[in-house]
Amino acid sequence: MDRVATGISGFDELVEGGFPEGRSVLLSGGCGTGKTIFCTQYIYNGVKKFGDPGIYVTLDERPELIRQDMLRFGWDLKKLEDSDKLQIIDGSLAKIGMPSEEEFSMPATGFDIDKLLLEILRTTKRIGAKRLVIDSIPALGFNFQNENDVRNAILKLSYLLMRMGVTTIMTSEISDGANKFGKYGIEEYVVDGVLVMHYLGIGTRSNRTLHIRKMRATKHSEDLHPIQITDTGIAVHRVEKEYEDA
Ligand SMILES: Nc1ncnc2c1ncn2[C@@H]1O[C@H](COP(=O)(O)OP(=O)(O)OP(=O)(O)O)[C@@H](O)[C@H]1O
Ligand SMILES: [Mg+2]
Repeated sequence: MDRVATGISGFDELVEGGFPEGRSVLLSGGCGTGKTIFCTQYIYNGVKKFGDPGIYVTLDERPELIRQDMLRFGWDLKKLEDSDKLQIIDGSLAKIGMPSEEEFSMPATGFDIDKLLLEILRTTKRIGAKRLVIDSIPALGFNFQNENDVRNAILKLSYLLMRMGVTTIMTSEISDGANKFGKYGIEEYVVDGVLVMHYLGIGTRSNRTLHIRKMRATKHSEDLHPIQITDTGIAVHRVEKEYEDA
């Protein structure tokens, strides 16, 4: 099986070199755990290190803020967009019925899963996208009247993404202690992998961790890995290393 490497320091070696190609992975974590940074790093490295064009569908944060925040890590997204290596699709404002000034966005007349899929499909053809991010699934659910409709939309989305052959990360919030990884109870089953990010405040230090909860067709690490957010993005460590340093 071909692997899609994230290029995130310390991560790929934990999953036999990367995500299974053409599959979807759910990245779950509480607020501020680093989901958006992880996803952007995956897309950015995709272009810069592996020559894979990518699509970032943002349903929570507005694109201009993501572009601005990610410059802190030295990731100039605008430059990638200008060279058609990246397309950011804005669904953040359509979600609340407001027009977006972005070139690629969902209409303010209402968010529609079919329109989003069509836009993803068009973009995939236009730039030859190999990687996709959907940030976040709960924000997608915002537009539906009832949870059954959200579940149907998630199923449709995951099926079509698989058909398209893009390798996808979807994000979801998770509350600490809850024994589920998505909000609607099916996300973790329709995806091929589940990554969980935690932010633990224990003692006088806060600790960030990443755990690979599942990765189909992969002999993956089962450890809780300490992670760091540095000036160059996310770095994943091994537990032994932490002990050595302590
Ligand atoms: N330059 C930086 N250096 C170190 N840590 C940073 C830096 N920039 C952001 N962070 C940390 O990353 C967090 C934001 O990460 P990110 O936006 O990826 O989280 P998230 O999981 O997507 O959150 P949300 O659920 O709110 O969308 C900040 O709260 C901060 O703790
Ligand atoms: Mg986020």
